[in-house]
Amino acid sequence: MRRILVTSALPYANGAIHLGHLFEHIQTDIWVRYQRMAGNECIYVCADDAHGTATMLLAEQSGTTPEALIEPLRRAHADDFRRFHISHDNYYSTHSPENEHYATLIYRRLAAKGLTFTGEVEQLYDPERGLFLADRHVRGTCPRCGAAEQPGDNCDACGATYDATELGAPRSLMSDAAPVRRASLHYFFDLPQFTDYLKEWTASDAVQPEVTNKLAEWLGAGLKPWDISRDAPYFGFRIPDTEGKYFYVWMDAPIGYIASFRNLCDRTEGLSFEDFWDPGSSAEVHHFIGKDIVNFHALFWPSVLTGADFRTPTKVHTHGFITVGGTRMSKSRGTFINAATYLDHLDPEYLRFYFATKLVPNTDDVDVNLDDFVQRVNSDLVGKVVNIASRCSGFIARQFDGKLAGAIHDPELWGEVSGAAGRIGELYESGDVSRAVREITALADRTNAYIADREPWKHAKDPERRGEVHGVCSLGINAFRALMVYLKPILPAMAGRTEAFLNTGELTWADAGTPLLDHAIGKFKPLITRMDRKDIDKVVDATKAEADPSH
Ligand code: 2FM
Ligand code: ZN
Repeated sequence: MRRILVTSALPYANGAIHLGHLFEHIQTDIWVRYQRMAGNECIYVCADDAHGTATMLLAEQSGTTPEALIEPLRRAHADDFRRFHISHDNYYSTHSPENEHYATLIYRRLAAKGLTFTGEVEQLYDPERGLFLADRHVRGTCPRCGAAEQPGDNCDACGATYDATELGAPRSLMSDAAPVRRASLHYFFDLPQFTDYLKEWTASDAVQPEVTNKLAEWLGAGLKPWDISRDAPYFGFRIPDTEGKYFYVWMDAPIGYIASFRNLCDRTEGLSFEDFWDPGSSAEVHHFIGKDIVNFHALFWPSVLTGADFRTPTKVHTHGFITVGGTRMSKSRGTFINAATYLDHLDPEYLRFYFATKLVPNTDDVDVNLDDFVQRVNSDLVGKVVNIASRCSGFIARQFDGKLAGAIHDPELWGEVSGAAGRIGELYESGDVSRAVREITALADRTNAYIADREPWKHAKDPERRGEVHGVCSLGINAFRALMVYLKPILPAMAGRTEAFLNTGELTWADAGTPLLDHAIGKFKPLITRMDRKDIDKVVDATKAEADPSH
């Protein structure tokens, strides 16, 4: 049995859970549920990413403190995920005693080994608000092309990248005041010391091949020390032995993975923290992330961990961005859809299934198409898979007292369906879920064709062909059961209803190989209903109304 710890990227504690978060958490959850079904120990932790300027400013605008802001948001996030059947074992917060402990410990270990240093940094400072300005909080004239009102890091007009201190006539977005240059002492993690280590680590199968290539570009260009401190006022943990210096949110965010797991260990008997995080651990650690944060997870994170004597990740699974109808999600177009808005109108498993049909093992972007969404659910899931059960179960109930036949009617078909378990399992393991779904629907097609050829509805009343009808419908039910084993990581609630209908215990991966013979099944109830396109329109309209309440 493998022992596996899995994480999804920690959502920021300053907004609602939306389709983008769901795409990643559904991807992760499918992988986790597959591992559990295959008999592995698989623990899935997450948390809210609570720290940073954005949380601080949001609290200020809302007339509250960051501490008071984050806890209700954390609960709302955890609840949204739970309603989408995301099976986190813990959903914690980076603003926790455990995280402060590990952030401090890791920093002290790095400092003791000479892996950190301090240096003066000159930055723009808002004298009215009394804070240093992040690049996104300042505008000014591009030093290269002279375009006005450009952000603090790069020019939208000519594409130049620069330092905020180079902007002409800068203006603080926080107060409209003209910022001044001010020097301050910053703390750095000495990333360049890890160059050789990272060249080797990033070329291993800890990352996907295209990620290796992207990282090789950065490594080739030369790594820079990483600024891990921010000046007060800042919502975060104070750096030990300093006044007014805080850990940058990206320093303690991934440590939040460790802290969430620690918190789980402390309330779970027999779960040992050291088994998973000591160097030389035989357990696995898998992170699921989007490609925008690959530098944090595949450069900084393994270096910080190895420098602080923790084990490094087994694998970072990186996915692409999602677009809706070919463009970025947008509130005004009604495509920046929040989890809660979706759930007001649609079954969460529709989305789980649709996303599953889109999951690839690489970092290509994924487009959500609302018409295709309805089509996939209604024709593939309801029309092909559920159809097998609904067309066979009536005969079993009415003619055979609810009991399945004692033998497999067509060993070839059964061999094909049950024999796919290994191949489909490998596709889940490698993250090629879209191909797994294609294999499953192809097997559903095969099964439907087998039933259609034998026309049980024509022969049901013919006493001479009773055995054949029983055999055909029983095999249909057994094939359906195997397909539901394969779909269970994607559709856990529908699989639960299937278990009740088939009158069996919890389906495991191994069940795909053992048919139910002479077994009494329960009464068929609709396992999932067809999707109504109008309900999607309601979600889109509600999303538009959130963007513009006068709408
Ligand atoms: O990009 C984000 O949404 C970050 N909040 C992800 C943090 S992941 C981890 F490092 F904590
Ligand atoms: Zn410019």
